[in-house]
Amino acid sequence: MCGIVGYTGAERAQGILIEGLTRLEYRGYDSAGVAIQEGGALEVVCRKGKVGELSRTLEDFDLKGTCGIGHTRWATHGKPSEANAHPHTSCAGDIAIVHNGIIENFAELRDELMARGHSFASDTDTEVVAHLVEEAYDGDLRAAVADATARLVGAYGLAVVCDREPGTIIVTRKDSPIVVGRGAEGSYVASDMIAMIDATRDVVVLADGQTARLTAEGIEYFDEAGEPIEPTVTHVDWDIDMAEKGGHPDFMLKEIYEQPRVIRDTLAGRLVSGALAIDELDMTPEELDLVDRVYVIACGTSYHAGLIAKNLIEAWARIPCEVEVASEFRYRNPIITPTTLVVAVSQSGETADTLAAIRDARVKGAKVFGITNVVGSPVARESDGVIYTKANKEIAVASTKSFLGQVASLTLLALLLAQAKGGLTTAQIRLLFSELADTAEQVEAILEDTAAIDEAALACKDATSALFIGRGMGAAISYEGALKLKEISYLHAEAYAAGEMKHGPIALIDEGFPVIAIATKSPVYDKIVSNLQESKARGAMIVAVATEGDEDIRKHADHVIYIPKVRDAFSAITASVPLQLFARAVAVARGCDVDQPRNLAKSVTVE
Ligand code: G6P
Repeated sequence: MCGIVGYTGAERAQGILIEGLTRLEYRGYDSAGVAIQEGGALEVVCRKGKVGELSRTLEDFDLKGTCGIGHTRWATHGKPSEANAHPHTSCAGDIAIVHNGIIENFAELRDELMARGHSFASDTDTEVVAHLVEEAYDGDLRAAVADATARLVGAYGLAVVCDREPGTIIVTRKDSPIVVGRGAEGSYVASDMIAMIDATRDVVVLADGQTARLTAEGIEYFDEAGEPIEPTVTHVDWDIDMAEKGGHPDFMLKEIYEQPRVIRDTLAGRLVSGALAIDELDMTPEELDLVDRVYVIACGTSYHAGLIAKNLIEAWARIPCEVEVASEFRYRNPIITPTTLVVAVSQSGETADTLAAIRDARVKGAKVFGITNVVGSPVARESDGVIYTKANKEIAVASTKSFLGQVASLTLLALLLAQAKGGLTTAQIRLLFSELADTAEQVEAILEDTAAIDEAALACKDATSALFIGRGMGAAISYEGALKLKEISYLHAEAYAAGEMKHGPIALIDEGFPVIAIATKSPVYDKIVSNLQESKARGAMIVAVATEGDEDIRKHADHVIYIPKVRDAFSAITASVPLQLFARAVAVARGCDVDQPRNLAKSVTVE
């Protein structure tokens, strides 16, 4: 995720763009840049690092132009660097663009453009758009952008300027947010209205395929066919704090609601001609086929994503998979051979124990794949290959959207291994991939109605302890559910594989003791129902996460949270979401600071 801004009007653009970018820094901050129309030409200034770095540089430039675009980047294609920072320009340097999203067919477009003589200055997917607009430009920037975007596969929010059309910015979007607004001093565009909230509270949220032409005098809107349209203006009365959180009361909730996008972005471009493609891993199918043991190493929530992956890797690829917390792995002597694959999972990409475990594994000869959310992070740099989770910057300490991004990425890895090992046929992989993609919509459906979750949370808020249970995939899900609850609500929570109940945890249960059960339809559904009956008989208050349409479960549970029916393999994605919302609702009811729980840090860079 990146942040884009644009301004054209009576004021100098430089300060307005910097202010807007600073507000959008939550979307990424590995590099930033602006392109400002200055005396008939485009002045492009980019810097690696945060917006502050760019701001200091621009003080020396002191640009007077009143029309420009800006960008703060969260790297997806190409490492964080000045060359990869936006805006990107055409060969002639007369067209500049900023982009938020992922162009899936960029490699093919770049080859095509290079064959026609274009030269590229960056490794980004974005730069192809500048060259496509350059080729299409024939005196009408709006038409050129329309021609260029017709060639794109993927997601984009774009703002484009051209020195031959002074004072004009063209913006358009597909599956990436663009908000446009008209203030007293000019016209504004941004990825998020927070960037323009001081100038206007009346905004137009551009729909997919729509385009806007911004000038100092006003804004015109066009539909996909290029016909002028009347936009729907939305008035927002959020204060700055609310606006930063997208209208949500805290970042955790905002991030929970971003999860459908994370799933979509993580999967974008991964199925090419019916086959799984993760080129960044840089291993041939033959090398992958030789893998005979997988270790997933991670800490905290990332470790739980690993537990889910174990189920999938073993089921589909039939490779033994062990999951270990990095702080244990690094201090024992695990069995590692050249055919061992170590998968290091880390949201921040800088957790000290995970890094130490990576180094150790490589010394012992293992190939290491990193799965991280931060491009260019130590985990990314020190691994042989890396998959980025595309969750984008996560602010709440308790991980939610990164977790779902990790699970989706690990699911892709499991499919890739199964493809290499022949554990699944091409048709099976295609079907599984399409069902995995469907989880984005299923999560959306869960997020639409949270009444049952809130009700269950209120019933549990005064408890002193809670037990999460599940079997198979449900056990892995319950570990993460318990962690979420304890870290943000300070309510003691434990998770157990439900089959272990009789070996200890059942002794905890007395009248009103909360038992949260993952009771979705799965091969072990009947077994978990038995566990519920045993718990109920001892007075437990049962909250069941169950499959839509399962009326029977009501007999065994005090509160039922229904989620859409999915294949058991994907239940971690859907069932984890209500547990995140449940933990947050309990924490809010207990008056806790859900974004910054006591004693915890987002990155743990020391042992
Ligand atoms: C901290 C964070 C957790 C995270 C864990 C591992 O404890 O609070 O949310 O799961 O570190 O971090 P990593 O960045 O390696 O995923």
